[in-house]
Amino acid sequence: MIASADFTDSPVEPFDFILFGGTGDLSVRKLLPALYFRHCADQLPEDGRIICAARSEMDSDEFRKFLEEESKQHIDADHFDDAQWQAFLDRVLYLKIDVTDQSDYAKLKDLLDGRESHVRVFYLSVAPSLFTAITDGVNEAGLITPQSRVALEKPLGRDQESADKINDDLAAVFDETQIFRIDHYLGKETVQNLMALRFGNALFEPLWRNERISDVQITIAESLGVDSRGRFYDQTGALRDMVQNHLLQLLVILTMEPPVSVDPDAVRDEKIKVLRALKPLVGRDVIENTVRGQYKGGAYESGTVPGYLDNDDIPNDSTTETFVALKAEIGSWRWEGVPFYLRTGKRMEQKQTEIIVNFKKVPHSIFETADGLSEPNQLIIRLQPNEEIRMRIYVKAWGDEIKLRPVHLNLDFNDVFQKRRMIAYERLIVDVLRGNPVLFMRRDEVSAAWAWIDPIQQAWQQFQYKPKGYRSGSMGPSAASSLISRDGFSWYEE
Ligand code: NDP
Ligand code: BG6
Repeated sequence: MIASADFTDSPVEPFDFILFGGTGDLSVRKLLPALYFRHCADQLPEDGRIICAARSEMDSDEFRKFLEEESKQHIDADHFDDAQWQAFLDRVLYLKIDVTDQSDYAKLKDLLDGRESHVRVFYLSVAPSLFTAITDGVNEAGLITPQSRVALEKPLGRDQESADKINDDLAAVFDETQIFRIDHYLGKETVQNLMALRFGNALFEPLWRNERISDVQITIAESLGVDSRGRFYDQTGALRDMVQNHLLQLLVILTMEPPVSVDPDAVRDEKIKVLRALKPLVGRDVIENTVRGQYKGGAYESGTVPGYLDNDDIPNDSTTETFVALKAEIGSWRWEGVPFYLRTGKRMEQKQTEIIVNFKKVPHSIFETADGLSEPNQLIIRLQPNEEIRMRIYVKAWGDEIKLRPVHLNLDFNDVFQKRRMIAYERLIVDVLRGNPVLFMRRDEVSAAWAWIDPIQQAWQQFQYKPKGYRSGSMGPSAASSLISRDGFSWYEE
C-alpha cells in the first residue's frame, strides 16, 4: 500500500539482513539508524539479525564500538534511548569479507546455515561495480533461498547500457519479484503524500493539466558539499547522482495518470508511461535547455568552505557538475506545452526540496490587488527541511475597497501529526523485509530513465559543455535563472 497510514509497526518475519558495505557512509549515517528506529518500534523480531559485511579488519565487538562512535551520532538525540541502543547492537554482527573473493562467501554460509526458512535480505550498499560480484558470489555459494531478496542502492549503473547489464546479471540469479531497486526519495513521507494528495482528493484532478497549469518547478538544493564522497562523486556528477533518479521520480509521481489501484505494477505501469513520454533532449537542444554548474569555495554559513576542486580526492581540472538545471517537457494530452524546470545542486543556499506548481492566471481579472501585482495561484509542496503543503489563493483584504491580497492555506505536517518523522529508509527496509515492491523501481523504469539521461550526458561531452562556477551559498549559476526567465517565469523564492 502507499499511504503512510497503511504502514503498521507490526513485527516482520524472522530475518537475516546482510548489509554489504556495512562500514560505509550510507550504512553508518542512514541504514543502521533506520534499523535502530525499527528495533525501537518493536518491529524487528527477536530472531532478526543484521550482518554487516565489509573488508575492514574487525570482529563483531569492535564493529559495535565503531557504530558507537560513527553511527550513534546520526540518531536524533531526542529519540535516542541507550538501553534500546544496546539491545539493538546485540543483534548486529560483523563479517570481514572481500566480495570479489569467492572463497570468502564460505564464512557467510557458515553464519546462515540452518536459517533457510528466515527471510534473507542481501542489501548492496556498495559501489555498483561490485553488484554483480556479490549476486554471483551468493549464488555460487548456494545462499539464495526462495525467501531471499536483494536490495540495490542507486545509481544503478552509469548509463543505460551498464544498467541493463547489471539488470541482466541480477535476472540470472534472482526473480524480478526478489529485486528491490532503491530510490530513497520514494520512502519519504511527502513523496507518498503527493500520491495521497492527487489520488485521494477529487479536488486536484480537474486542475492537474495543461489547461490550468502554466509551469512546474522542482528543486532539490543541498547545503552539503561532496566532502568524503569525492572519489565516487567525481565519477558520477549531479545528473547521474540526482536527476536520473530522485528528480525524475518526483516528476513522474507528480505527473502520472491515476493508477487503477495501489497494486505495485499498476502504479509502476503508470510511472513508466511518463518516463517514455519525456521529450528527448538531444544534441544542440541539450545545450539550450540545460545548465551545468560547479561550486566554488568561500564564506558559507558560519565559516569558509572549500570549493569542489579543492577536495583532495578530485583532480584540479575536473569538469564534473555539482549543479544541474534543465527544462523538460512531457509529450502527452495532459502535459503538452507545460515546461517542467528541474534543478539540483550541492552547497546551495540551504537544504530545500520543493515542488512548485504554478497555475494559470484568471482569464479576465475584474479586481485590483492591494500591491498592484497579480501572481497566479500556486501550490507549494515542500519535502525538506519541513514537510508542508501550501496553496496561494486570493482573498479580499479587509477594508472599504475591494482589493485582493494573496494568502496561504498552510498544511504543516509537523502540526498535524506531531510524531517523529520516519527516516525514508525505515519504510523502505521494512518493505524489503515484507517483500512489498510498490516503492521500488522496476527494471524498465530504470532503463527508461537512463534512456532520457544518456543523450544529455553525450551532448555535454560532444559540445564540451563545461560547468559554470557558482558561489557556495548561492542558488547556482546565473544561467539557471536565464533558463527559466527566457520563458517568462522565475524560480520560486520565499
Ligand atoms: P562508501 O565508499 O562509504 O562505502 C563502501 C562500502 O563498501 C564500505 O563499507 C567498504 O568497506 C565496502 N567495500 C568496498 N569494497 C569492498 C569489497 N571488495 N568487499 C567488501 N566490501 C567492500 O560508499 P557509500 O556508503 O557512500 O555508498 C554505498 C552505495 O550507496 C553506493 O552505491 C552509493 O552510490 C549509494 N548511495 C550512497 C548515499 C550516501 O549518502 N552515501 C546515498 C544514496 C546512495 P571496506 O572498505 O571496509 O571494505
Ligand atoms: C543521494 C545522493 O542519493 O541523495 C547524495 O547520492 C545526496 O549525493 C542525497 O546528498 C540527498 O538525499 P536527501 O534525502 O538528503 O535529500
